[in-house]
Amino acid sequence: MSKKKVYIETYGCQMNFSDSEIVAAVMTEHSHETVSDSRDADVVFLNTCSIREHAEQRVLNRLKELQHLRKKKPHLIIGVLGCMAERLKESLLEEQEMGMRIDMVVGPDAYRDLPQLMLDAESGQKAVNIMLSAEETYADITPVRYAANGVSAFISIMRGCENFCAYCVVPFTRGKERSRNPSSIFDEAKNLFEQGFREVTLLGQNVNSYKWDGSGNSPAMTFPGLIGLIAGISPLLRIRFATSHPKDLSDELLRVMAKHPNVCRSVHLPVQSGSSSVLKRMNRKYTRETYMQRIEAIREILPGCGLSTDIITGFCGETEEEFQDTLSLMQWASFDFSYMFKYSERPGTLAAKRMNDDVPEAVKTSRLEKVIKLQQQLSLDSNRRDVGKHFEVLVEGFSKRSKEHVSGRNPENKVVIFPDRGFKPGEYVMVRITGCSSATLKGEALT
Ligand code: SAH
Ligand code: SF4
Ligand code: F3S
Repeated sequence: MSKKKVYIETYGCQMNFSDSEIVAAVMTEHSHETVSDSRDADVVFLNTCSIREHAEQRVLNRLKELQHLRKKKPHLIIGVLGCMAERLKESLLEEQEMGMRIDMVVGPDAYRDLPQLMLDAESGQKAVNIMLSAEETYADITPVRYAANGVSAFISIMRGCENFCAYCVVPFTRGKERSRNPSSIFDEAKNLFEQGFREVTLLGQNVNSYKWDGSGNSPAMTFPGLIGLIAGISPLLRIRFATSHPKDLSDELLRVMAKHPNVCRSVHLPVQSGSSSVLKRMNRKYTRETYMQRIEAIREILPGCGLSTDIITGFCGETEEEFQDTLSLMQWASFDFSYMFKYSERPGTLAAKRMNDDVPEAVKTSRLEKVIKLQQQLSLDSNRRDVGKHFEVLVEGFSKRSKEHVSGRNPENKVVIFPDRGFKPGEYVMVRITGCSSATLKGEALT
């Protein structure tokens, strides 16, 4: 088998970035190597996202672009991995329909099969594996951190999702929810710490429903137990996690966070909408009121905790009044940060099958603009409240704009920029905040 140069490009969520590190591990174990420029590659993998139509469109455009590379390199192999592979299946291989040639289609649970599939593709066959699994967690594969900054790393602790929010394609592309053996998570985090990493983010579509049944070499465990376990590795290792579903965020978890100073005071709690009737149509299984109660619990048990969210505008049937409920909830919660999206209908989802995508595009857009504008104001207000405060910042590297400044995050997950005094990535520095924009805090080192 010939050694190949593999270039991986990743789209979508953190879980996909984490999966690309598994892909890199599988390929390097088979003596291939990863490269950081597509022009050097024999094999290009796009690890793709289906969450919104726009996400898929970006990938399709990129695939078209890559066909030019094939003209210069006739033996180039192009593979589509991840959620689009799972959603669009063999249809991606139809050259006529697609207007281009794709050699491999590999779903998120089939990455162990990549080296074999690549051999098939090399011999001119179309290579497909889109089998979803109820067990695969890649627990025994040590991810290759080929793009990491050496300070902060992702660890997938579970895969799949069975919540079936009406708008969402993830349960279809990622399959059944399954949790990974806690001892393998512990070992991975400990190894990262020993290599010099100082922050791990535990990943899952809904980490609060993490559940190990007690099989293998680990006792039965839920998410608060896992957090306690990983937090015990070292007080110098920061722990973050994403994403929390509001229906499952327990007081027990908040108390475990309060007990461990190295578990970052920051919760990402996607609300999607501030209207109970929209939430019901979305099948989110909580109401405006129960969401507000969760935030009150966070504020009480973890004072000063950072809070961020996801918001969708223009979901099926969203009235002006329902939309106003989203704005008022944002005001009430005063989120530090939000990811904001226009609703995009995904084929096969509950909403696509049973509801009308009836909010006009222009209304979706104007509502999104209002949400973004409000969030900018809330972020600025939140950052202004931090001016004068002191935070422990974990240095990640130079700031993007200047080599005289370093950049890192405080426990609340805000980016802090301050003048460099020879600080090294991975170092903890106490910083006094002296100014801000809506996107970042600016400060001065105290030590
Ligand atoms: N598992 C996470 C989020 C996964 S997707 C959770 O449950 O919160 C990330 C975000 O994309 C979602 O929170 C939602 O805000 C957005 N999203 C998902 N499907 C969408 C769609 N069809 N149109 C627009 N936004 C969508
Ligand atoms: Fe999608 Fe809902 Fe699962 Fe999140 S919890 S991935 S929004 S179905
Ligand atoms: Fe996208 Fe799949 Fe993640 S659809 S958001 S890459 S789980």
